[in-house]
Amino acid sequence: MIKIAPSLLAANFSNLQADMEMINRSEADWLHLDVMDGVFVPNISFGFPVLKHVAKLCQKPLDVHLMIVNPEKFIPEVKSLGAYMMNVHYEACPHLHRVVQQIKETGMKAGVTLNPATPVALLADIIRDVDMVLLMSVNPGFGGQKFIPHTLEKVWELKRLIEHTGSSALIQVDGGVNHETAPLLVEAGADVLVTGSYVFKSAHPEETIHSLKQL
Ligand code: DX5
Ligand code: ZN
Repeated sequence: MIKIAPSLLAANFSNLQADMEMINRSEADWLHLDVMDGVFVPNISFGFPVLKHVAKLCQKPLDVHLMIVNPEKFIPEVKSLGAYMMNVHYEACPHLHRVVQQIKETGMKAGVTLNPATPVALLADIIRDVDMVLLMSVNPGFGGQKFIPHTLEKVWELKRLIEHTGSSALIQVDGGVNHETAPLLVEAGADVLVTGSYVFKSAHPEETIHSLKQL
């Protein structure tokens, strides 16, 4: 069954408690947390002081997506949130193998994220070591952008790479996920869908999450 990870970036920051209660009641599998540094991506989101409060309120596993340079510096902070999954960008890690091992040594799951222009084939030598690959279906930095259709081919290709190598990595997709793109992603082989504005800006977010779970 498809996993749904609503993205906090689209939540109502003037009443996070209400949105966290909605997430806790909902069928969401994880909560996706987008950390931006204004360097790796052209935007700044929120940092650890906010995440600590969210971690206290949220009963779902935390899926942390670090859009920052030198993400390895923050492995202890992410671990201390009680995070389930830590995603680092391929493009931000010249020593990716080491970073993946360091994340896994803490007991967290390790995810590797690819920007839209980064080929899936570059993962050939790390795919057996990772718990998840996050394919960006928009250029990271902002919510509410349009889905890049080529992502569907990347999901197919990643699925083939996972099968051929015997990897157990999950395939996650992030950006522009909605009622039109989600069924195509499930059909292509995605395991986890991140969804920000489609859930939080909908009139009935819990029902929107429920309908995504039916795909
Ligand atoms: C983009 C973030 C996404 C974003 C998705 O940089 O990584 O997680 O919140 O937002 P939507 O679903 O609105 O495209
Ligand atoms: Zn994200």
